[in-house]
Amino acid sequence: MCGIIGYVGSAERDAPDAIDVLLEGLSELEYRGYDSAGVALANGTLDVHKAEGELEALTSSLSTESLRDPAVGIGHTRWSTHGPPTDENAHPHTDAEGRVAVVHNGIIENYQTLRDELAADGVTFESQTDTEVVPHLIARSLESGDGDDGDERYDSADHKRAFRRAIDRLEGSYAIAAVFEGEETVYATRKDSPLVLGIDDSDGGAVATDGSDAVAATDGDGSTGYFLASDVPAFIEYTDRVVYLEDEEFVRLDATGWTVSDSDGVPLEKPVQTVDWDAEDTGKSGYDHYMLKEIHEQPSSLRQCLRGRVNELQGTVTLEELDALVDREFASPVRFVACGTSYHAARYGASLLQRRGTPATATIASEFTTDRVPVADGSLVVGITQSGETADTLRALREAQTAGATTLAVTNTVGSSAARAADHALYIRAGPEIGVAATKTFASQQLSVSLLSAALTDRASHEEVQSLRRVPDQVQTVLDTSNARAIAAELVGAGAFFFIGRGLNYPVALEGALKFKEITYEHAEGFAAGELKHGPLALVTEDTPVFAIVTGDGEVARKTISNIKEVEARDAPVVVVTDGVSDVERYADYVLEIPETDERAAAVLANVQLQLIAYWVAHEMGRSIDKPRNLAKSVTVE
Ligand code: AGP
Ligand code: GLU
Repeated sequence: MCGIIGYVGSAERDAPDAIDVLLEGLSELEYRGYDSAGVALANGTLDVHKAEGELEALTSSLSTESLRDPAVGIGHTRWSTHGPPTDENAHPHTDAEGRVAVVHNGIIENYQTLRDELAADGVTFESQTDTEVVPHLIARSLESGDGDDGDERYDSADHKRAFRRAIDRLEGSYAIAAVFEGEETVYATRKDSPLVLGIDDSDGGAVATDGSDAVAATDGDGSTGYFLASDVPAFIEYTDRVVYLEDEEFVRLDATGWTVSDSDGVPLEKPVQTVDWDAEDTGKSGYDHYMLKEIHEQPSSLRQCLRGRVNELQGTVTLEELDALVDREFASPVRFVACGTSYHAARYGASLLQRRGTPATATIASEFTTDRVPVADGSLVVGITQSGETADTLRALREAQTAGATTLAVTNTVGSSAARAADHALYIRAGPEIGVAATKTFASQQLSVSLLSAALTDRASHEEVQSLRRVPDQVQTVLDTSNARAIAAELVGAGAFFFIGRGLNYPVALEGALKFKEITYEHAEGFAAGELKHGPLALVTEDTPVFAIVTGDGEVARKTISNIKEVEARDAPVVVVTDGVSDVERYADYVLEIPETDERAAAVLANVQLQLIAYWVAHEMGRSIDKPRNLAKSVTVE
């Protein structure tokens, strides 16, 4: 994900300078991406400025005084998916002649095909991004006479046509905004990435008079301008009146108004709504905490994780970035190394490989030294680290490389130390995670190691791929139907909290306990369900709620139910997370339901229920949920 902002100052009134609106807007969007940033100003010519690093790097590089005049522009804060954070990879991207500048949020799945096609036409690319194909497609459409009406310079009709033609070639997810040389207008569209209009029309609407092919209510003579952004915070200080765009709707903003049309150019009437946020809630999009917002982002972030990687018709998994890796044979076992939440994903990934007959282990990175954990020359060591900066995991990867292993970093951060230190990198594409407690990144790690296990063993059945494709929607169902908040209110104040699971649900039990303890500060422990009777059962009383994950009705479910009976016999409150296939609910005091699916996907869904339990107990207790005491988002010390 990233932050996009577009602005067109109104012709009627002394509108704010575009550069101020863009930079302020980008600062409100930094939670969406902050590894590089850029702006393009349109005032007859295009003035593009961009820089690697946080927004401050761009701001300090600009002499905004020289950029005062333009009243039209677009801006972007990047969260890299294709190509590390560099000046060249930062957005906006332009065509060779600098006639069009583009910013993009999302993933263009067919970018390699388009790059090859354009390169064959003589296009030279400046960046490694997927996005850069867009301005070149637009320029090629302009040059090929798509809109040439004999006029030397291209006019608005040419620009609009070329923009639409380029978008028609794209596959994948995108929110795209573009500005053209010679026209003070912003063009934009979206598909599976957010884009919202902001309308500052304090004096009520009139019909657009820009001659475009769409009509919509616009301002009279009182607006300061029209805004376009990935999220409302970017322009909330100017207006709370918004128009939410749907997929494949096209937008045109100019000084006289705004217009929206569908993919065929048919005019659309769009309602102007008013958001009721107050200023400080902006980055949280109306949620009380980033953690809750990020829990609810999971359907979207999981779709991004799967995008372009699973083919339901062929039943195949393709990890293009690992083509050089997945065809190789490695000495056994595959070793995963990680810390904290990522270690739980590592256990999950090792279990998936074991199930496919590939020996695999998971080791806490701080316990991983090659004299304690032998690493075979020619083996594969996988470091899972969402930040890509965890010192323990980085050291483990370096030690593994020294021992002759091939290393792979599974990370959320393009260009991170782990991504650069490892021989290969697989990106989980969860977007920035602000809450210190990992939520959406864990779910994306689970899906990523599911994809990895299929790619490494070259085995993914149709039903497995279909099951993976269903996960984002099933997570949405869990979010829409969960009764975790009510259950949390009942359990606050208990002495300790236990989480138990077997098989693929064991790492989920560990993660449920970690999430719980790190934001409620209450004692919580995760156990293999079968281990309770070997000691922890001594702690079980009527004051120790036990969360038990039971999915399916096979042997694992039946044995976990036996363990539940053991704790029930000690009067412990039992909360089951279940798909309802077995009869476990009869032994439970509370039930957290998940949709029925296979065991791999069920482990992802069950975790979402436990994330919500941890969040609502901490919320009841008034904890500092986004910034828990003693914890850091990235532990860069050993
Ligand atoms: C997870 O909620 C914690 N914040 C912590 O355990 C974290 O998972 C661990 O520090 C590893 O971080 P990484 O994924 O960035 O390497
Ligand atoms: N895929 C594009 C890139 O890597 C956009 C990423 C984003 O959404 O910030 O540059």
